[in-house]
Amino acid sequence: MVIVGATGDLAMRKLYRALYYRFRDGQLPDGRIIGASRTEMSRDAFLGKLFEAAQRYIPAEHRPDEQWQAFIERLDYLPLDAFNCDSYAPLAEKLNQFPERQRIFYFSTGSRIFAPMCECLYRHELINAGARVVLEKPVGTDLASAIEINEAVLQYFDESQVFRIDHYLGKEPVQNLMVLRFGNSMFESLWHQTYIDHIQITVAESLGVEGRAGFYDHTGALRDMVQSHLLQLLCIIAMEPPPSIEADVVRDEKLKVLRSLRPLLDGDIDTHVVRGQYLAGAVDGQPVPAYRNEDGVDADSNTETYVALKTYIDNWRWANVPFYLRTGKRLARRTSEIVIHFRAVPHSIFGEAALTPNRLTIRLQPEEGIQLLLSGKRIGTGMSVRPLELNLDEDQREVDHVPDAYERLLMDAIRGRATLFVRRDELETAWRWIEPITDRWKAQGGRPDTYVASTWGPTRAAALLARDNRDWDEGC
Ligand code: BG6
Repeated sequence: MVIVGATGDLAMRKLYRALYYRFRDGQLPDGRIIGASRTEMSRDAFLGKLFEAAQRYIPAEHRPDEQWQAFIERLDYLPLDAFNCDSYAPLAEKLNQFPERQRIFYFSTGSRIFAPMCECLYRHELINAGARVVLEKPVGTDLASAIEINEAVLQYFDESQVFRIDHYLGKEPVQNLMVLRFGNSMFESLWHQTYIDHIQITVAESLGVEGRAGFYDHTGALRDMVQSHLLQLLCIIAMEPPPSIEADVVRDEKLKVLRSLRPLLDGDIDTHVVRGQYLAGAVDGQPVPAYRNEDGVDADSNTETYVALKTYIDNWRWANVPFYLRTGKRLARRTSEIVIHFRAVPHSIFGEAALTPNRLTIRLQPEEGIQLLLSGKRIGTGMSVRPLELNLDEDQREVDHVPDAYERLLMDAIRGRATLFVRRDELETAWRWIEPITDRWKAQGGRPDTYVASTWGPTRAAALLARDNRDWDEGC
């Protein structure tokens, strides 16, 4: 496996950690992991940097010396200038010692260099029949650039060799959602507009841009999060039951959802989409700067750090069921969840008692879990009704470590299982839906609505639901 961008934040924080855990559990097949990046440094210097990261991201009790040593023996480092094909010569020499071995190229870099990297790999004859390429998100910055990058990559790799990452698909609760839906008959029979009132998807982060301003200020929350993670979550919730778990079968169903998303156009964008940008505030009593004052951010930046929107899926299953999506940085707390709000009972026989409608919550983070809210009777002589929470989680105390999304996805890429990766047509259909929104914001200019850091976003986001007599789930 070759990780390009090996000294970057993602590789240091997530990729090597994921590979280590799979190695520790004896799942990593034999072979070498070659890190490559622009930085000129020796293998030892690289391992030193990696060790520092490991101390921060892997608990010491999971990292006994002999295991860590055995793991790093598998690692190499090579400096590489992605745009300069000559600089690939040492990599070619290393890989060509084992021409029959499978090669996985993980591009943990900005997508504008995917095409030049493919071309250089090709020129050095490094793309053999079993080769695979893993592409980090976001692929492109709009529809045209996504098409251009896809076409360039597909000149050298077949679509079956391309693994486009969306790490939200690898999260444990997202897998669990599939099992819940398609492993139980009771949910699927209620999973449509007759019984579901509306659905909310929230991905809230308490962190700010964290040194990624160079990327984020040109990207914003809509492209960074909605185009990928939130739309993929929506697909898993809304897709029809696939006939099997086979990659293209599942991806066909997700594609149908993306194609059924009602386009948000012109004036609808102003009423259905809210964009926000955080102001200075305090996190845990410590002052934090406004987005515009973050290092590397333009002082008059209009990049959105928050998006909330309302959309519909125009098909029989979901007719008239609103889907409310929101995501943002520097929000009140880190929480990601999908909440399915069922309709209230059509007629209450329990007098005036307000029955809380059933609610299914799939919590992605910080703690993972699934909860079903039902109505139950309060113990006593009267007929008093109360909300009852049923926890459907596995007891996490029984496992020493819940695998991170990247562990699953890296193993899937190694094993050639593409179900949890995004196919070209899905990616481009998602961009097609997003683009009218970015176009309108660009044409309108102006600063997004503001919100104080560590709150729940701009007031217009609350109004988006209040207009429909609804509230955002908890905390807004
Ligand atoms: C990434 C985004 O894809 O997902 C980041 O680029 C974001 O901006 C991150 O912080 C969130 O991932 P997670 O797994 O921490 O929720």
